[in-house]
Amino acid sequence: MRQIVTTGTGDIDVLKVQQKPDLTPDEGEVVIRVRAAGLNFADILSRQGLYPDSPPKPCVMGYEVSGVVEAVGKGVNSSFEGRSVAALTRFGGQSEQVVVKATQIFEKPDRLTFEQAAAIPVNYLTAYALLVVMGSLHAGESVLIHNAGGGVGLAAIDIAKKIGAVTYGTASPGKHEFLAERGLDHAIDYRKQDWLPVLQQLTNGRGVDLVIDPIGGSHWRKSYEALRHTGRLGMFGVSSGSANGVLGKFKMLKAAIRTPFFHPFAMLNKNRGVFGLNLGHMWHEPEKVAVWMRDILGGVDEGWVRPYVDRTFSFEEAGAAHRYLEERKNIGKVVLVP
Ligand SMILES: NC(=O)c1ccc[n+]([C@@H]2O[C@H](COP(=O)([O-])OP(=O)(O)OC[C@H]3O[C@@H](n4cnc5c(N)ncnc54)[C@H](OP(=O)(O)O)[C@@H]3O)[C@@H](O)[C@H]2O)c1
Repeated sequence: MRQIVTTGTGDIDVLKVQQKPDLTPDEGEVVIRVRAAGLNFADILSRQGLYPDSPPKPCVMGYEVSGVVEAVGKGVNSSFEGRSVAALTRFGGQSEQVVVKATQIFEKPDRLTFEQAAAIPVNYLTAYALLVVMGSLHAGESVLIHNAGGGVGLAAIDIAKKIGAVTYGTASPGKHEFLAERGLDHAIDYRKQDWLPVLQQLTNGRGVDLVIDPIGGSHWRKSYEALRHTGRLGMFGVSSGSANGVLGKFKMLKAAIRTPFFHPFAMLNKNRGVFGLNLGHMWHEPEKVAVWMRDILGGVDEGWVRPYVDRTFSFEEAGAAHRYLEERKNIGKVVLVP
């Protein structure tokens, strides 16, 4: 079987498609024949040598797949064999085959293609944890979604709309028309102008109830300033550190140095809260994640979860897929197919 191997740290030429022996499941595991694998920003950061959670290289990245269960290990119900599923994968997903614990698979909704199903786990679980679980967003409240046109961003719009919140989103201007079609109430061009005064103007100086911020560094301070009383800031990524080579190391260091500290008294006096989320550190809590996923898959049936696949690339085109995300060309999900 073939896999996309990140053979070392560097530019896209380190990505190679390599032949590997077929996999077999251990106790409690299943083997999935992968039909589509999600590409995430973490995969780019790993290739750039900027992702602390990355497995050592050479490695096969990939946090999520859809496909068909090909074999089951001891202790797993044999009726799983042949079923179409989506799954979270602790790496190794960008491969023709992947082994996962049976607790990490979810039935693929019939109405979704394999590509659409592969666009669900990371983006929707992250957005769900940020908005519903930790951000406690309620009807009538407001949320600012940074990178609204990205995979997590579009998922956050779906969930916020379902909740009945007012949505603000920052994105490159070329993505605004599409975002309006998806139901974003207020798009802000953050590339050409400072988004904070624009947001303040749109909210009559009040700010918003929740901000979700994957940019990191000093940007988290700014997002904190955008909160109204009882507002919450969810921090979940450091996209601002992304770059190849020495520049990447420099940008990541700059982001680390400029990361704010939030003093409890300052939060207390302004009625604000901050929290962090890393979905990749939830492997020991599969029951929680399964509950969130049940709600999300219910949303597929009800029509408010609308996974959007922007582009599909073959395994051989993995480098082009990375470039597409790095150059901010994507709207929504980029998916790799064997
Ligand atoms: N903590 C978690 O559990 C978790 C889970 C998933 C994702 N994340 C984080 O969430 C962020 C989005 O991830 P994603 O996989 O869904 O990808 P994505 O949203 O598709 O990310 C790409 C988009 O991010 C924007 N962006 C902002 N700064 C950028 C930069 N320096 N370089 C390239 N693009 C930049 C661009 O949109 P514009 O054109 O609008 O600028 C780009 O299209 C990443 O920081 C990722 O690490 C965290």
